[in-house]
Amino acid sequence: MTPDPAPTVQQLLAFYLGAGVDCALTEEPVNRLSDPDTAPASSEMTPARSVRTVPAAIPAVRAEAAPAPEAAIASARGAARTAPSLEVLRGLLENFDGCALKATATRLVFADGNPHARIMFVGEAPGREEDIEGLPFVGRSGKLLDRMMAAIGLDRSRAYIANVIPWRPPGNRTPTPQETQICLPFIQRQIELVNPDVLVTLGNPSTQTLLLTREGIMKTRGRWFDYDTGTRVIRAIATFHPAYLLRSPSYKRMAWQDLRAIAKALEERKSPAS
Ligand code: URA
Repeated sequence: MTPDPAPTVQQLLAFYLGAGVDCALTEEPVNRLSDPDTAPASSEMTPARSVRTVPAAIPAVRAEAAPAPEAAIASARGAARTAPSLEVLRGLLENFDGCALKATATRLVFADGNPHARIMFVGEAPGREEDIEGLPFVGRSGKLLDRMMAAIGLDRSRAYIANVIPWRPPGNRTPTPQETQICLPFIQRQIELVNPDVLVTLGNPSTQTLLLTREGIMKTRGRWFDYDTGTRVIRAIATFHPAYLLRSPSYKRMAWQDLRAIAKALEERKSPAS
């Protein structure tokens, strides 16, 4: 049997991209299989485990860049609380070193849209396109979010858009609970400063984190919650994340019901007497 020809560099890069490995975490490659301190035990060498070798590079970055999670959460709370405006909050985040995701992301993805809007959408974390452009929801799911907003007469000049996590997790991995808790005070303060009439959480992670529920999106979507900023109670509603709708278009019908409920709530708040 003749062996397969060695893959070209282009084929290898295409393979990495398909596997979600689309950013370099360090300047030099690290062979984790030959490093006794970081190589997984042989019993763990299943294919699924070896795919995780990219996120495994993060602790080395984190050890240098970020304090312990408890200290980082406390410092995030202290910093976010003091921000009198969105501009100051953005500056605080730019200078905040408590979250290791900052070290691997290209740039901060703070927000897009109108800070005076009556409606605010919050997703989970930026993806690849967002990381490149520095704006939330500009990739495929962002295009769908734009169409969802347009369906109820909204666009980015009449809505404000942000994420719970403002830095892209490498390879789009799920943020850890610690990373979420470290970033939480900043998005909470952002919501308080924007002070919208309606808050829309997009998908499970943002819904569970902001609306303090453990229920899944199938149960929470379309339901109204009270979101207490500490100074005001805001009406909040959960709906499907656009990325989920791209994968499961049959749920667009339910998303449409949620959008109609959102449009109705905005209308009611405009003319409370009617
Ligand atoms: N998904 C999110 O949750 N946020 C973005 O900004 C993009 C994709």
